Formats: sequence, C-alpha cells, structure tokens
Amino acid sequence: MKGSLELRKCDPGNDLDIIVSLEREIFRPSEQYTLGFINWLCRNCTNYSYIAFMDGKPVGYIISCIEGLSRGHVISVGVLSDYRRMGIGNALMCRSICSMAERGIDHVILEVRVSNTPAITLYRKLGFDVHGVLRSYYNDGEDAYLMILGNDKFEALIRKCCSVTKQPP
Ligand SMILES: CC(C)(COP(=O)(O)OP(=O)(O)OC[C@H]1O[C@@H](n2cnc3c(N)ncnc32)[C@H](O)[C@@H]1OP(=O)(O)O)[C@@H](O)C(=O)NCCC(=O)NCCS
Repeated sequence: MKGSLELRKCDPGNDLDIIVSLEREIFRPSEQYTLGFINWLCRNCTNYSYIAFMDGKPVGYIISCIEGLSRGHVISVGVLSDYRRMGIGNALMCRSICSMAERGIDHVILEVRVSNTPAITLYRKLGFDVHGVLRSYYNDGEDAYLMILGNDKFEALIRKCCSVTKQPP
C-alpha cells in the first residue's frame, strides 16, 4: 500500500465532524443516516469504531456496536472512492471486529444491499455468509442480505487478524 495508513479509535468529542463528512461523501443522500443517529452512534459505539487516515487525511471509517453480550454489529463502513482497493476496508473490518472480540463477542452481523457487490465480496472474503434476505430493508425499497460471521469462520478470522485476550463480559 502506498502512503501510511493509521486506524484511530473514534473520539466522540472530536471526531463527529470527520465521520459525518466521510459518510456524506461516501454514501448517496438516500443512504445517509441522520446527523442525530450518527451522533448517537459515535457516543455509544466509540470503543469499536475507527477512522482510517492515509498520510494524515481521513479516508474511511467504521462504526460497530456490541448488542447484548455476544453479538457484534457492523453498522456502517466506508472508504473514499479514490482510496478503495487498497486494503483499507478490510483493515477497518478486522480492527473493529478484533476490538469487539476482546469484549467477548462470538459472532458478527451486518446488513448489506443485495446490489452492493464490492461490500458483499469484502464480507465474504472475511468469512461472512448470507443468512437471509430482509425484504425492502432500505428506504428506497431495496432488499438487504443479513450476513453473519460466526462459529469456525469467526474463530478463523480472530486467529488471522487479532491477538485477542478475551475479557469476561
Ligand atoms: C465496500 C468498501 C468499504 C470496501 O472498501 P475497500 O477499502 O475498497 O476494500 P479493500 O481494498 O479492503 O478490499 C478487500 C477485498 O474486498 C473485495 N472488493 C473490494 N472492492 C471490490 C470491488 N469493487 N469489486 C469486487 N471486489 C471488491 C476484494 O476481494 C478485495 O480484495 P482485493 O482488492 O485483494 O481483490 C468500499 O467499496 C466502499 O466504501 N463502498 C461504498 C460504501 C459501502 O458500500 N459500504 C458498505 C455498506 S454495507
């Protein structure tokens, strides 16, 4: 990869503007979350959410949350178009999943548009499988795949990406 990539844990006090501007640039208006929801996510899911900086410039982000004791949920991930296919999406996914694994999750879920081949390919490569179709999941009526990383594939990803010491829940 050209340039130096740094992944920094989201700081809710300072990073809201960065995440909002990345989200606005990466996603179409109809796909964007409201400012209030991004604010809520930044404040409640900080420990598992990261911003990617390339040579100091913010170029991507991931927001994930833990639900209950054992489920990680990737809520939003995106990389600016000029910085795609450089491994940044993969690095963000791994870092976020590892930080949730340290807190004891044993599987990860996410939803993705059925037309979103780049994201689906990335998720499959990480070990996610399609577990169902959520009909008309998005505001514009498009269906989503519910994808899950669990069991052996979860363990394999953790072995590959993380040096995890599980903490008690
Ligand atoms: C999905 C997304 C985050 C991937 O980010 P990225 O930094 O380009 O991903 P990576 O470079 O880490 O790609 C890892 C692998 O994913 C797959 N992949 C990524 N983009 C792909 C594409 N356009 N077509 C096919 N496969 C793709 C490839 O297998 C790739 O590995 P390779 O480059 O060695 O072949 C990025 O395309 C994006 O921001 N899209 C718009 C926002 C979005 O749709 N987010 C997901 C919402 S659920």
